[in-house]
Amino acid sequence: MKVLLLLALVSLSLAAVVQVPLRKIEPLRNRLMREGKWQNYLKRKHQDRYVMEKIMSGAVVPQKVNDYEDEAYVGNITIGTPQQQFQVILDTGSANLWIPDSICGTLPMNCLQTSCEGVICQFACDNQACCGTPDPSHPVNSCANQNKFLSNASSTYVTNGKGQDTITFGGINEPQLAVPNTIFGQATSLAAFFAGQPIDGILVMSIFSLAITRHKLNTNFSGLAFTSIAVDQITPPFINAINQKLVDQPIFTVFLEHEGDQNNVPGGIYTYGGLDTTNCGSLIDTVPLSSATYFQFKMAAVKAGSYSNSKGWQVISDTGTSFIGAPQDVANGIGNAFGATWDAENEVFWVDCKATVPTLDLTIGSNTYSIQANNMIVPSGVNSTCLLAAFPFNSFGFGPSWILGDPFIRQYCNVYGVGAQNIGFATSNQNPKYSLF
Ligand SMILES: *[C@@H]1O[C@H](CO)[C@@H](O)[C@H](O)[C@H]1NC(C)=O
Ligand SMILES: *[C@@H]1O[C@H](CO)[C@@H](O)[C@H](O)[C@H]1NC(C)=O
Ligand SMILES: *[C@@H]1O[C@H](CO)[C@@H](O)[C@H](O)[C@H]1NC(C)=O
Ligand SMILES: *[C@@H]1O[C@H](CO)[C@@H](O)[C@H](O)[C@H]1NC(C)=O
Repeated sequence: MKVLLLLALVSLSLAAVVQVPLRKIEPLRNRLMREGKWQNYLKRKHQDRYVMEKIMSGAVVPQKVNDYEDEAYVGNITIGTPQQQFQVILDTGSANLWIPDSICGTLPMNCLQTSCEGVICQFACDNQACCGTPDPSHPVNSCANQNKFLSNASSTYVTNGKGQDTITFGGINEPQLAVPNTIFGQATSLAAFFAGQPIDGILVMSIFSLAITRHKLNTNFSGLAFTSIAVDQITPPFINAINQKLVDQPIFTVFLEHEGDQNNVPGGIYTYGGLDTTNCGSLIDTVPLSSATYFQFKMAAVKAGSYSNSKGWQVISDTGTSFIGAPQDVANGIGNAFGATWDAENEVFWVDCKATVPTLDLTIGSNTYSIQANNMIVPSGVNSTCLLAAFPFNSFGFGPSWILGDPFIRQYCNVYGVGAQNIGFATSNQNPKYSLF
């Protein structure tokens, strides 16, 4: 009994609450719009999805696959001993976990020339020189400017067919939570959207995680079906931290700032193992998760001005999506309420930056959460025009039908209850410094 108590005390004293800063970067979409390349990018993306669906034999490819053109918030992690640093998307809405490997982009061409493009690369190609480039005559290696992991330089790296090493949440010279023996994917190619973006990889923050080990993916296509899509279910790093009793509480809290058109500025804080008492108010409510995969829960109703709908939906809280994704009819209703214009070619809602607009009111549990204009209207990156941070999301009848992305998380700190499988919402002390208005 005494021994047990002592052990409990020891592990308690080792556990921690660690606060790690995020940075806000310019989303790929804004950059491509500015450079006049956005429509081509979209065309290509749709092509990729089509090919991918063929390859997957009609299986539906979730819209989230590879949709990081929106991504605005990144954080530093390190892997290995001594620490190698990477800037990654900390994504509560995906199961992906990978870092470019030292051999990324260097393997000989071995992909199917005809279908190895864009998103397909992720699954089929080892060399970006034959895939994923807007113009095949000017191949771009998407890994070229990314930090790459050198497993041979890490004394704690374990060779077991998957990457396994110590990962720290937080970069060198930042507060860190070190999680030994964490498994991650070592990517040998990166999809085109990484090229030119200051993003090295993706770190899963959802409850389950899959590491796609690319080496194995060069296995056989039989017909055009993946016989062995070498996706391993692995323990996500934060769950690994909980299992090793490295944090006070099995929760993490996300605070996102709204930065208007500022880029490369501080963008928020991830608090691992506790509440963020500096940047967030007290918890308003906590609701149970309806699925122990993503942070998925029920939302009863939505209202914006004279538009309202109380059909009820499954939704996810997703740090890796910069907008609010809603079913088509609801997105139209919200767009109208905000006086926004749908632009089918660019697949965005344009809205007057200074429009007087209603709040977007979401009813979750017994509370209504109101997202204000300064979180719903965002700069497009072009000519001082603005976008409504909402888009029509097609779930194809599977999974969640809404994505509550950054506008919601900027308005309310989200508390991800990994242990209790719930999600909480707290008021956010938003930084008014960079407000668009
Ligand atoms: C990551 O670290 C680099 C180098 O120290 C720094 O320039 C960058 O701002 C950091 N990024 C984040 C997200 O903190
Ligand atoms: C590790 O491997 C890379 C190439 O993958 C090589 O350039 C480097 O010299 C190696 N480093 C050590 C310490 O062996
Ligand atoms: C792939 O196919 C080749 C020949 O068809 C076969 O020898 C090999 O074992 C297959 N590899 C895997 C991993 O199934
Ligand atoms: C931005 O303004 C320039 C100059 O007026 C114009 O040529 C360009 O088409 C505009 N871009 C967009 C996306 O409106």
